[in-house]
Amino acid sequence: MNDVLKAINDRFSTRGYTEEKLTKEEIETLVKAGLQAPTAANKQEIHITVIEKGNPVLGEIEDTKNAGKTTPANFYYDAPVVMILSGDSNFYWSPVDAGIAVENMALAAEGLGLGSLIIGCIKDALRGEKKDYFAKALHYPEGYQYEIAIAFGHRATSKEPHTYDWDSHVTML
Ligand SMILES: Cc1cc2nc3c(=O)[nH]c(=O)nc-3n(C[C@H](O)[C@H](O)[C@H](O)COP(=O)(O)O)c2cc1C
Repeated sequence: MNDVLKAINDRFSTRGYTEEKLTKEEIETLVKAGLQAPTAANKQEIHITVIEKGNPVLGEIEDTKNAGKTTPANFYYDAPVVMILSGDSNFYWSPVDAGIAVENMALAAEGLGLGSLIIGCIKDALRGEKKDYFAKALHYPEGYQYEIAIAFGHRATSKEPHTYDWDSHVTML
């Protein structure tokens, strides 16, 4: 199997990481994989905010997400790096562009032997009452909003990639 297909098939959501940090080169490779993704009309509007573990903003996102919840959860599983992808609020394709970029990044992580976790559960926290606060704290460009996030690190846990039912998802005309 070629390397691209192997990365697609082997990738799984990693929900546990070791303490090992990522190198500057690894972080840059992951960011570049996001920026190399196609965007509608080649608008290249997706912005990536890189946050390393220990940055207080991760705790602020966590607290906002967990406010009022009976079962608070750590949204990034203590991964050493979290990246927030924001997009232009007025561009129709930003959610799709961000989705394509984040999968490029997940596959790049797989290629580097790293684990990743795509994170959607902080959407309400980052787009809710504190939207403007987080837009500033996360240094979005003007008029941008959170689209999706992804955590990266060395895997401390493993699981099988998900399976699927071809027959219910595919129609061959
Ligand atoms: C848009 C999107 C948002 C997701 N948000 C979360 C999340 O907030 N927390 C989480 O643990 N997993 C999240 N996931 C991961 C999915 O739960 C996971 O991809 C799915 O269960 C299939 O498992 P696999 O990635 O191991 O194949 C998200 C995935 C996608 C595509």
